[in-house]
Amino acid sequence: MSTFAIVGLLACGSDRDPGAANHESQDPSSPSGDLTFRRHGDLVTTLSLAELARAFEPTIVTTDDPYYERRKRFRAMPIEPILERAFGAPIDVLRRESFVLKARDGYAVPMSGERLLEGGAHVAIDDADAPGFEPIGPQRVSPAPAYLVWSRVGQASLETHPRPWQLASIEIASFEALYPHTVPTGEPDGSPAMRGFELFRGECIRCHAVNREGGRVGPELNVPQSIVEYRDPEFLRAYIRDPLRFRYGAMPPHPGLDDADLDALVAYFRAMSTRKHDPDAG
Ligand code: HEC
Repeated sequence: MSTFAIVGLLACGSDRDPGAANHESQDPSSPSGDLTFRRHGDLVTTLSLAELARAFEPTIVTTDDPYYERRKRFRAMPIEPILERAFGAPIDVLRRESFVLKARDGYAVPMSGERLLEGGAHVAIDDADAPGFEPIGPQRVSPAPAYLVWSRVGQASLETHPRPWQLASIEIASFEALYPHTVPTGEPDGSPAMRGFELFRGECIRCHAVNREGGRVGPELNVPQSIVEYRDPEFLRAYIRDPLRFRYGAMPPHPGLDDADLDALVAYFRAMSTRKHDPDAG
């Protein structure tokens, strides 16, 4: 079985929860807030953004920002020296780890070390042109105190290069260790359920839990009832591709998923409906 590390991103609110709204503007010269770093569940260190900004002089990073839908300039620091300082390990070692980036609102995006450390990832601590950041996402929250941005051409897609805002923690964790009950154990490699799992892990788990493991921005999809026990497959396929056709909400459209992908996701949900694990069940 493939082992897969996840990087914990900071909690960000991207497409997420209005509860984390923060409209206070900040003194751009002195960012407030902390980032927490964990390894396999254990706290490694907490670093204040002010401390990081003193150590690693922020520069101006220009990026085509998919949330703001225009070119933006941020005061930002590259992620590499921050992770080296926090974990006390060189980049080529960290690149072999898996990470999870967690935002304050429960958004939790798994990311391979290879992706996170491919170059271009920056921790933005302010908007260079609008001090205190402009509100972001459907709920119009502030991305402060920290927003992950990517600076390179080819890093503008949120599917491949997620941008957690309100980043709270960055964790080293293997996917299987972090979310063991989301795996459709026993399904053959290459089966639709396995393909659906890969898709779910890549694009959905950052916001949704299965068996109480995963992000908390969207609803849990397997317990107490599986989504396939109260929604029909036709609805699921249509909703996942274009949720805003049904209701305005914080679930982003997935126009890139084709019919086979949507069938695979449904197959994954069916497989998980026979593998329920609910630690909270009375
Ligand atoms: C950025 C966060 C986010 C991502 C990524 C995301 N979702 Fe959602 N999803 C939500 C939220 C929030 C809701 C609830 C929306 C609402 O109630 O209007 C939701 C709702 C749903 C529902 C419930 C529909 C219903 O009416 O019962 C399903 C099924 C679903 N998402 C599947 C997926 C799948 C599959 C993916 C990956 C392809 C995915 N979501 C990716 C946030 C997300």
